[in-house]
Amino acid sequence: MEDNTCGCRAAAIDRRAIIQGGLAVGASLAAPGAALGQADPATTRPRPGDYLVKDEDTSKKPLTPADIPLHKTIVSAWAVEPNENIVRKGSRLNGIILVRYENSELTPETLSRAAEGVVAYTQICTHNGCDVTDYIEAERVVQCGCHFTKYDPRDSARIIEGPAPRALPALPLKVENGKLVVAKAYTDRVGFEQA
Ligand code: FES
Repeated sequence: MEDNTCGCRAAAIDRRAIIQGGLAVGASLAAPGAALGQADPATTRPRPGDYLVKDEDTSKKPLTPADIPLHKTIVSAWAVEPNENIVRKGSRLNGIILVRYENSELTPETLSRAAEGVVAYTQICTHNGCDVTDYIEAERVVQCGCHFTKYDPRDSARIIEGPAPRALPALPLKVENGKLVVAKAYTDRVGFEQA
């Protein structure tokens, strides 16, 4: 059964969205834009070259590494298609979390995907699809508030504890002209396991 106690983003998130979003995952992954021949940029997953903006920032100011506080919090973000500046928030599955560390704290694999210590992952918990919104400062890990899966962003978001079946997919970043930019597509399928 769905646990609807998640601390989901206000934008585009309601209880039905979790269920509908889950159903949509399979369909969109199976045939992205196939029926229409053209994918909607707002619902397309982040792509290389996209810049990032803070959740609810209507000014679409590109995020820089300095905007992400070291060891302090999760910054929720969206990717933006750079040609027409379309924020890819048409699907809640596109929610991104950003966390910042010292480079020396990151495993080699995670460091290879980081931009000046900033690492990015999907916000969608791989268990039942709640948003991962909690940062536990004492442990420097992130947590899903629904069933308390803890993920370690310093090490490919591996699961430290909790019921989630797999790590959060990572979104490789780079810095271009001072801005955080998507370097590669997600490392794994974004979404969650159906109960
Ligand atoms: S939805 Fe269950 S731990 Fe995240």
